[in-house]
Amino acid sequence: MSKVGVRQVVDPVHLGEGPHWEENNQSLLFVDIMSCELHRYFPASGRHQILHINDCGTGKSVGFVVPLEGDPNLLVVGLGRSLAVVEWSPNDVDDKTVDPKVVLQTVDEGNPTNRFNDGKCDPCGRLWAGTMGYETVPGQPDLHKGSLFSLDSKLSISQCLQKISISNGLAWTHDRKTFYYIDSLEYSVDAFDYNETTGEIGNRRKVLDYKSSGLAKDIPDGMCIDVDGNLWVANFYGKKVICIDPRAGKIIQTIEMPAQNMTSVCWGGPNYDILYATSSRTGVSPDDPNAKYGGATFAITGLGTKGQKPSHFRVDLQLLRTKYNK
Ligand code: BGC
Ligand code: CA
Repeated sequence: MSKVGVRQVVDPVHLGEGPHWEENNQSLLFVDIMSCELHRYFPASGRHQILHINDCGTGKSVGFVVPLEGDPNLLVVGLGRSLAVVEWSPNDVDDKTVDPKVVLQTVDEGNPTNRFNDGKCDPCGRLWAGTMGYETVPGQPDLHKGSLFSLDSKLSISQCLQKISISNGLAWTHDRKTFYYIDSLEYSVDAFDYNETTGEIGNRRKVLDYKSSGLAKDIPDGMCIDVDGNLWVANFYGKKVICIDPRAGKIIQTIEMPAQNMTSVCWGGPNYDILYATSSRTGVSPDDPNAKYGGATFAITGLGTKGQKPSHFRVDLQLLRTKYNK
């Protein structure tokens, strides 16, 4: 077996999150949530592009970013409590500021301080994204204020789960029958039956309970799946990324990381065999000897497995275009 390597690849941001590999550009997209910025890193050249998004009243944060199928320069983002589209291309200058092109939906009207956190597309191209309550101390938001939503190709939104504290990791099995999900403050990774035709989920059960698995201090955060069906989870306050075999309900590998607060992971690189991992500097004590790594993005290599091309948002582009003049 090859040796596992961990290397910092991008300079620290504040709250790095939502990594997504863009096959067409061979680049890594990620967000800096509270700075309301998108970042794009090109491993081949080391280039690092930044897009600042004017919130235009939606709430100054960006929780996730996913390209649109058929027009990868259009990106759907979770902006405050809204789902919006921004346009950003590798041909743009390295530091740019834009307004969102269009706001698609706004949620959680009764909880105005909520914000979108993690989001991803299912194998059929529906967008799934969840919210969380107002957070002053990392890991201690107002509890049970968020929900998990899905948005279909016709831009119709469904509320799939309620009373979520921090909506985080999302992953689907390759047979499209199971959905894995993390509400961080349940301190567990959960599984649901997933119906790809209707987009419904049900039969929630625990895959791994953190507190009874020796992870009492860790908060499960972002997650992705590999081709073997195992889950890779970033542990906030845990200084590690773990690999879980969800069928056995067991941790099968632990990767120690330089940064205390790991936030999310995704597969990328030309062969999808590099695990990119984001982190946060929020909640890191200045006395931590590794404080300088807080917010950095890392590449983990030599894991002996890989992922697949991530799904894009399969929206009806004609319908979307009627919402703005393109
Ligand atoms: C959120 C942070 C939160 C962390 C805790 C992240 O996904 O964006 O605000 O502190 O989860 O695990
Ligand atoms: Ca996250």
